[in-house]
Amino acid sequence: MRYLTFALTKGRLANQTMELLEKIGISCEEIREKDTRRLVFTNEEMKLKFFLAKGPDVPTYVEYGAADIGVTGKDVILEEGRKVHEVLDLGFGKCRMCVCGFPEAASFLQHHELIRVATKYPNIAKDYFYNIRHQTVEIIRLNGSIELAPIVGLSEVIVDIVETGSTLKENGLKVLEEVCPLSARMIVNPVSLRMENDRIRDLLDRIRAHVIL
Ligand code: PRP
Repeated sequence: MRYLTFALTKGRLANQTMELLEKIGISCEEIREKDTRRLVFTNEEMKLKFFLAKGPDVPTYVEYGAADIGVTGKDVILEEGRKVHEVLDLGFGKCRMCVCGFPEAASFLQHHELIRVATKYPNIAKDYFYNIRHQTVEIIRLNGSIELAPIVGLSEVIVDIVETGSTLKENGLKVLEEVCPLSARMIVNPVSLRMENDRIRDLLDRIRAHVIL
């Protein structure tokens, strides 16, 4: 039997994924060790390998078959647009992709004005404004702390993840429109899904029984 390899998103998502996998009897002690510098973890009995990667790299590993299975956020899957099969909503990491800004910015949206949109997700933002809203905008790509953009006058609105809404609230910003709901998803390499169909299907069925949507 060959190894099935999982690419997990470093951080909270990886921990929640391992908690879920433990419920179906898949464990990997070493991956839980906090200070380890190790990159690949193995469960010899079940012939499984796990590695941790940055979220946006997970679909890349899965598309190229370096990992058979990946777990990352729907935001990353949409943004990266890789050739992978999304097979399961894991029900955790729930949040929303939203257009946000100061309350006054609502009128720029209403009148389809040529505004600036700052975001870490240029593809999602482009798709939303061009294909859904049919509004021409200028997209400005940033790498984090997106809420800063309207505050310092870089853009009129942002497209960003909202979880509790407290970052927005503390900065006088609000959700103006919802783009889509997000959560952690399981993705599979298309060739792996065909070659290891029984094993992957069985795994998915067992996981699905523990998913709370
Ligand atoms: C995310 C997101 C928002 C914040 C939303 O940022 O970009 O800034 O969390 O959470 P809230 O609604 O619960 O306040 P993250 O902390 O991941 O870092 P980043 O700003 O570097 O993207």
